[in-house]
Amino acid sequence: MNRFDKKVELRLPDSLKWSGVNRLFKGEDLLPLWVADMDFEAPAPVLEAIRRRVDAGLFTYTELPPSLFEAVAGWLDRRFNWPVAPSDLLFASGVVTLLKASVLAFTQPGDSVVVQPPVYGPFGDAVTGQGRELVLNPLKIEQGKYKMDFDDLEAKLRLTGAKLLLLCSPHNPAGRVWEEAELNRLAALCQAYGVTVASDEIHSDLILSGQHIPIASLPGMAERTVTFIAPSKTFNLAGLHTSFAVATDETLRIGLDQALGYRSPNPLSIAGAEAAYREGEEWLEACLAYLRGNVSFAADYLAELLPDAVVYVPEATYLLWVDLRAYGLSQEELGRLLVQEARVAVSGGGAFVSEGEGRIRINLATRRENLEEGLSRIARALGSVQPGGEAGIDGAEAGEA
Ligand SMILES: Cc1ncc(COP(=O)(O)O)c(C=O)c1O
Repeated sequence: MNRFDKKVELRLPDSLKWSGVNRLFKGEDLLPLWVADMDFEAPAPVLEAIRRRVDAGLFTYTELPPSLFEAVAGWLDRRFNWPVAPSDLLFASGVVTLLKASVLAFTQPGDSVVVQPPVYGPFGDAVTGQGRELVLNPLKIEQGKYKMDFDDLEAKLRLTGAKLLLLCSPHNPAGRVWEEAELNRLAALCQAYGVTVASDEIHSDLILSGQHIPIASLPGMAERTVTFIAPSKTFNLAGLHTSFAVATDETLRIGLDQALGYRSPNPLSIAGAEAAYREGEEWLEACLAYLRGNVSFAADYLAELLPDAVVYVPEATYLLWVDLRAYGLSQEELGRLLVQEARVAVSGGGAFVSEGEGRIRINLATRRENLEEGLSRIARALGSVQPGGEAGIDGAEAGEA
């Protein structure tokens, strides 16, 4: 049996995804295919490292050991051929924290910051929640694929004078792995208009097809980029709250460090993160193979049972972005249908920064059997559309990840 088909206890009392779902989505017996963590047990070396740390029996104030930063740098070099000095890394509890800190560090109140919707909701909050102006450079769809709109970006940089871009690479929820030519064009615009890039690369290890290129590794970009990575999505360790920023430029690094302020690491997170980056590769490759299977299964299933749904097959992430506007339902009607009729919890389009109307994001990182159950529930409910009623789909926006 494939290890990812193994049944594990998912209804832990503190699991946001499984135990929080009925409350957050205001439904009953919901099958959770929403928040971005996986229903798979973490890699064995991670579990062993954490157990060893527990067995030591002391939970003292903790230092970040040099070996942790060396493990992260080794991973970036091995996976992306990206040599990074361990001293260029900063620790933080999460990437959303890093996004917020980068806005604080690199802009002033009232400044404009560019994001590329439809994008992960906290990108918007990081800007507007801190008194900055949100500038939208929506992705456009060409031949069924999300692309960056460089003409629109250039016009907006010129118009607004924005000096910070929050890049999502790979993109959640569009599932794009940005190609070298696209990143080069983006880099050229950032250089021409003096834009700093905060690049959220949390999904960069979850590559299903293509090759991830860190934008900071392109010529002339290390000095204007801070990159955010984490073991959380890669190795399914979201609850351990560990992430890193790569900031080669000293001024950017000091600015980000100051904006992050005091932070105190957790010994179990350190043990888990280091083991993951040193010994997690085999698990990750096996996981990616399983996820690729889930993606094709879901794409084929939906093409057959919901031919009017537009499915964006992801090149990265385990998240499937589906456009259901052809079914003619309002966001509220769609939410009600999915929660009350289908009894599934997916991420509603409203959880993303604009451009999400009529779309849903389905988390595919679950046992195939579970996925099939979820998709069949969605297909059955949409097959007998009955609009009207209260929304449920965006009810969990606050806790969305
Ligand atoms: C693009 C992106 N950034 C950040 C996060 C969350 O990061 P963290 O839990 O480290 O704050 C997510 C979670 O889904 C995400 O998709």
